[in-house]
Amino acid sequence: MNTVPTLYTDDPDVVKQESRELASFDLKREQVCDVELLLNGAFSPLDGFMTAEECRDVIDSKRWRDAFWPVPVVLDVSAEFAGSLGEGERIALRDPEGVLVAVMTVAEIFPADFLVDALPGRQLSAMCLGGPLVGVEAPMHHDFKRLRLNPREVAAQFERLGWEKVLGFATKRPLHQREVFETYNAARRNEANLLINPAVGAVVPEDRFHYARVHSLEHALGHYPLHTTDLVLSSLYSRQLGLDDVLLHAIVLRNLGCRYYMVDADYCSPGETGFDYDSLQEQLSAYDDKLGIELVFNDRMVHSPKRGGYVPASGVDAGEAVDTLSADEFVERLRSGLEIPSWYTWPEIVRELKQVYRPCSEQGVTVFFTGLSGSGKSSIANALLVKMMEMGGRPITLLDGDIVRQHLSSELGFSKEHRDINIRRIGYVASEITKHGGMAICAPIAPYARTRRDVREMIEAVGGFVEVHVATSLEVCESRDRKGLYAKARAGIIKEFTGVSDPYEEPESPELRIDTHGISPEEAAQRVVLTLEKLGYIKLG
Ligand code: PPS
Repeated sequence: MNTVPTLYTDDPDVVKQESRELASFDLKREQVCDVELLLNGAFSPLDGFMTAEECRDVIDSKRWRDAFWPVPVVLDVSAEFAGSLGEGERIALRDPEGVLVAVMTVAEIFPADFLVDALPGRQLSAMCLGGPLVGVEAPMHHDFKRLRLNPREVAAQFERLGWEKVLGFATKRPLHQREVFETYNAARRNEANLLINPAVGAVVPEDRFHYARVHSLEHALGHYPLHTTDLVLSSLYSRQLGLDDVLLHAIVLRNLGCRYYMVDADYCSPGETGFDYDSLQEQLSAYDDKLGIELVFNDRMVHSPKRGGYVPASGVDAGEAVDTLSADEFVERLRSGLEIPSWYTWPEIVRELKQVYRPCSEQGVTVFFTGLSGSGKSSIANALLVKMMEMGGRPITLLDGDIVRQHLSSELGFSKEHRDINIRRIGYVASEITKHGGMAICAPIAPYARTRRDVREMIEAVGGFVEVHVATSLEVCESRDRKGLYAKARAGIIKEFTGVSDPYEEPESPELRIDTHGISPEEAAQRVVLTLEKLGYIKLG
């Protein structure tokens, strides 16, 4: 039986007792996932978080000590926390609920800056801690508990079922008829059983798509021949690395005891990585002998109406008609309430996904104005509020910059750090409103693109997000200077003033851009209304 080494202590009570004296670190969502995978052996042979030199080796030559390893696994912490520690010190790692999950011996404290390019999917804090871990308690999951097995539990399950050869299928999305046929055929070709292993790490508990995806996979499981296939969730999360994410998942599947590894054609979207399945295959093949798991590639299947079923794409006659429906078209059909052809997927999966891919008109939405001080954000936001109230429908909340600073952020100033906190607070409140079907109208300056992107991501997980760039030029804003702030900023009385002595990063692709020069707030608000209608969030007339 596959028995990967775990990092758990034999004596958790003693370690717990000792940990009371230690400095505590509250792990972030991604870090909890990494700790879980380190402790339970899914990341074996890694025995802790990497040191700077180990990270450099991984980046330069995909090696950790003597083992193949594709991505740095690091524990990033604030400069302040790092500054309070000494090398050799032990620290208590806690999950977000405060539970002690591991104790780490800090072997090295080093700056994180050289890792920023290697880990684009992570918002790294300034410093990293490297060193070995001793596990105390597995991080807790409240969702899909029966599908969350560690490598030992998976090994025991394989043994119980008599599965000797298992093909692991790494995916991030629901499986429909084609994928079920393709994966089952791949397993059969290799005389193996099939383990579906979606990467669901670091999802926020409110992410409705997560539940819909996993439920859909459970439904798909029912369409494989009986006792051939199993579903286990992986706490891996996307580091947005494309190929290296795929390689890391290969290691995890190897540690779960899989002999074969089949990569989902859509594991990394071409948009994310710049490569398609053919080039992914080609690049992966270079690592075939390093992974300790055999790579298996997908034999594409297509639905042939003439033959009334799925057949290998290579087997259809030239010119023979085949049914096609792209993943985007499928989602579009769900959203528009159009019929989904029965050859594509099963009714229970359609029902499941329809709950999250609802028409825009049935979802909550945030209208997020951004622009310079004096650009007209508040005036348009107020006019929009009234128009929306007149139309009726969703409950509406206005989160104007000034109102928020009075009620939510009264202690904050205008440094980058404080502005980011302010915008994240607005984003959080707006996401709650959106999640519950309301409309949030936000009107802060929100000068930083990265923060706006994070807010967009947070809100799009629960509903709609419409960014409106109020693109009134600095000259016009300054000539208006209703509050006299530009004059004070030019005179140096107000520091860090956006557009004068502080940056404003223009949105690259907002849903709408309005220059208010020469148009009234009502006209501008009307443009927003038309945009909301065009995007399907409201119905006019
Ligand atoms: S931010 O950057 O999004 O957090 O700013 P926001 O919360 O929208 O607050 C902007 C309003 O604060 C006033 N104010 C300043 N703005 C920019 N820079 C500096 N240093 C500053 N100091 C005070 C200003 O009145 C902004 O209001 P609006 O409505 O945008 O003109």
